[in-house]
Amino acid sequence: MKNFDVYPLFNIEPVKAQGSYLWDKNGVQYLDLYGGHAVISIGHSHPHYVQKISDQLNKIGFYSNSVQISLQEELADKLGKLCGHDDYQLFLCNSGAEANENALKLASFHNGKKKVISFKKGFHGRTSLAVAVTDNASIVAPVNATENAIILPWNDEQALENAFKKEEISSVIIEAMQGVGGVHLASESFLKKIRTLCDENNAVYIADSVQDGYGRSGKFYAHDFAGVSADIYTMAKGMGNGFPVGGIAIAPHIKPKHGLLGTTFGGNHLACAAAIAVLDVIAQDKLIANAATMGDYLMAQCKTIEGVKEVRGRGLMVGLELEIPCAGIRNTLLEEHKMFTGSSSDKNTIRILPALNIGKAELDQFLEAFKSVLSKALIS
Ligand SMILES: Cc1ncc(COP(=O)(O)O)c(C=O)c1O
Repeated sequence: MKNFDVYPLFNIEPVKAQGSYLWDKNGVQYLDLYGGHAVISIGHSHPHYVQKISDQLNKIGFYSNSVQISLQEELADKLGKLCGHDDYQLFLCNSGAEANENALKLASFHNGKKKVISFKKGFHGRTSLAVAVTDNASIVAPVNATENAIILPWNDEQALENAFKKEEISSVIIEAMQGVGGVHLASESFLKKIRTLCDENNAVYIADSVQDGYGRSGKFYAHDFAGVSADIYTMAKGMGNGFPVGGIAIAPHIKPKHGLLGTTFGGNHLACAAAIAVLDVIAQDKLIANAATMGDYLMAQCKTIEGVKEVRGRGLMVGLELEIPCAGIRNTLLEEHKMFTGSSSDKNTIRILPALNIGKAELDQFLEAFKSVLSKALIS
């Protein structure tokens, strides 16, 4: 059997990784400024993470959600304290799309309504309703397309108000910083408006924090910058540092009932051990503060580079919009300077999404290479 060929691949096979570095099978070292789509939060192969997962595997790796799994309580407790929403409830699943599916479904169970508002350039996953509310027609199969998805212009308060007047809205799903869309920030007033309209209309505010959450923005959730609380936060990517784990944090007024949601793998012992290790390291090593400081440094430096049209982001989620298409720049950074960076749906915007414990030395390495590659490209 062959693998289903859906991914365009670099001709590189990493076989080892440590901190912010990867090594291929020929021993060539790469600087990782992308973390495999924003997944690596505490650095590759962090010793505490490796130890926790190995110890757990030697005890019990899996049993289903039909028995007591106290690791789930430990995880919910640590997550609640770190994110500042100790009174929320945690439901565990396995990926970002699954987190969003559960959030959208739970919202609809909660208020009995059907319509979902999402936004232009937003990305929420590739399954069922998550893909229907994603603004990319090419990945929405006919079976996924639904009249229940209303995709509105970004940061447009009037359009939002009009939609609430016209339709019975179940939920609004929004990334505070659009990732795949090219690192576009929701304005604080827009997020506040969503909060108000959801309150007035018994709708559920879903903060898709799959990419911009878990400390990456310099606060636990990027939505925190607006000073509002969402009803449901969805998360995945950085949560397991590579172990497939996702979750939704649910406000106390949304009540559970046996059988309402469910999953075979979600919340298994190994996934919990991985996610607990990640939270331990984020807390102990003050990685949220590091993300804020390193992000400010990176963005300030990038603003001075010729050929960079706009720098967008917060913390270690940075979009560099260039005056020219970025594909060639990214390829040269990879091939000649051995550095992984990310693309976005905007052809001129590079995404930088490193581990939250990256240091100034690594960022300087990137800045030097980036400056030189971009200046050569501008001349030629
Ligand atoms: C904001 C956002 N939501 C949801 C997803 C889907 O996550 P997953 O690929 O784990 O299903 C992604 C993935 O890139 C994302 O960036």
